[in-house]
Amino acid sequence: MDFNFENELSGKIALVTGGTKGTGKAIADRLSKAGATVIVTARNKPEDQPGHIHFIAADLSRPEGTQKVVEEILAEYGHLDILINNMGSSETPGGGFTVLSDHDWEATIQTNLLAPVRLDRGFLPGMVGRGEGVIIHIASIQARLPLYDSTLPYAAAKAGLVNYSKSLSNEVSPKGVRVLTVSPGWIMTSASGRMIERIADSSGGTIEQATHSVMNALGGIPFGRPAWPEEVAELVGFLASPRAAYLTGTEYVIDGGTIPTI
Ligand SMILES: NC(=O)c1ccc[n+]([C@@H]2O[C@H](COP(=O)([O-])OP(=O)(O)OC[C@H]3O[C@@H](n4cnc5c(N)ncnc54)[C@H](OP(=O)(O)O)[C@@H]3O)[C@@H](O)[C@H]2O)c1
Repeated sequence: MDFNFENELSGKIALVTGGTKGTGKAIADRLSKAGATVIVTARNKPEDQPGHIHFIAADLSRPEGTQKVVEEILAEYGHLDILINNMGSSETPGGGFTVLSDHDWEATIQTNLLAPVRLDRGFLPGMVGRGEGVIIHIASIQARLPLYDSTLPYAAAKAGLVNYSKSLSNEVSPKGVRVLTVSPGWIMTSASGRMIERIADSSGGTIEQATHSVMNALGGIPFGRPAWPEEVAELVGFLASPRAAYLTGTEYVIDGGTIPTI
């Protein structure tokens, strides 16, 4: 088969949630380079937001936010071809299970599980109607390798997302829509960089020592470093492309070997 990688997504409309920073920004750039028309969402518009990428401001942890995104995209473009549910975060406090309130749990599940569920529900009828589309859920290795303490609800929500993604693929793959999960390990985003600086400052150690302390907390990364956002974006770009036409219902772990089991 002869694929033109440069323009393999030309004519496609793609949404990347959380596409203004970190991994989402790298995914938006990658899909745009492959020729897609790319829309990104976040709560805040960056000052340097590229003009060729359509930005929609929305808080996706709320049903009104996801509804706004679905309505604006369908009104402007009529349909969506590629949905990358990238946005996700863990904002709950440390201190173990006793300090985590119902509010902490609900907020984490809204952001990491219900936001993708609502966006899928908004765009899937159009994809099923046209008999084509790709949905990718960005989960985390924490779905299988949960860290306790502050990320307890996040790990549980991501495990729910992985399970939901598989169930959804069973329902819609026969109708032509591919549904996939990408589960990254630690990614060196600007937020990760700031976290490392804080650890180095508070421990009086070097950036390298702080980086190793995070890798040790994960049980080590055989590759010896976190992923770059562009490495995760490359996997997503491939999975969204026609080259991955037979891939659906599967989870792709990209973690430099972090998960210690097969
Ligand atoms: N970084 C890692 O090491 C790592 C590891 C495994 C998995 N992941 C997963 O990979 C994905 C991307 O993570 P990242 O670390 O690259 O993200 P990031 O750099 O923290 O960026 C998060 C993006 O989401 C937006 N966002 C956050 N909360 C939002 C909300 N309530 N409504 C709308 N937009 C919101 C942010 O913009 P605003 O703040 O302006 O809204 C930003 O664009 C997430 O699903 C994460 O769970 C990350």
